[in-house]
Amino acid sequence: MLVLVIHGPNLNLLGSREPRLYGKATLKQINAALKKLAADLKIDLEFLQSNHEGEIVDAIQKARGRVDAILINPAAYTHTSVAIRDAFLSAEIPFVEVHLSNVAAREEFRRRSLLADAAVGTIAGFGPESYLLGLRAIKKIVASSK
Ligand code: DQA
Repeated sequence: MLVLVIHGPNLNLLGSREPRLYGKATLKQINAALKKLAADLKIDLEFLQSNHEGEIVDAIQKARGRVDAILINPAAYTHTSVAIRDAFLSAEIPFVEVHLSNVAAREEFRRRSLLADAAVGTIAGFGPESYLLGLRAIKKIVASSK
């Protein structure tokens, strides 16, 4: 089972970026925790962090037919990107949307996701644990579809 993990814009700054909201874990630490869980679950992972919408679209297009699922924190693009939404709709790859913070409890504009209805599901508000819960969910949905 191969899963692509995509981290959207500004997530490269985790650890120092608004720690009150996003915690103190760095992206490197989150990826290390994901790798550890993936080894237990017998999942291979690929990682992309990008601050560029088009690069994320390219990665989703290239994943078609190659990866079993995508775990994505689209960050700010969650709320704005029709292009990433359309990429998922055409790639037909199951994906789980995750957020560190509880976006439903934040500013009005963060309560809307342009991706959520196309996702298998969304996990938000558990800090880095959101990613781990998302990977566990992916394991279940992919295993049950095989
Ligand atoms: C975020 C929430 C988004 O609204 C924000 O733009 C981010 C991070 C989160 O993980 O909580 O960059 O996706």
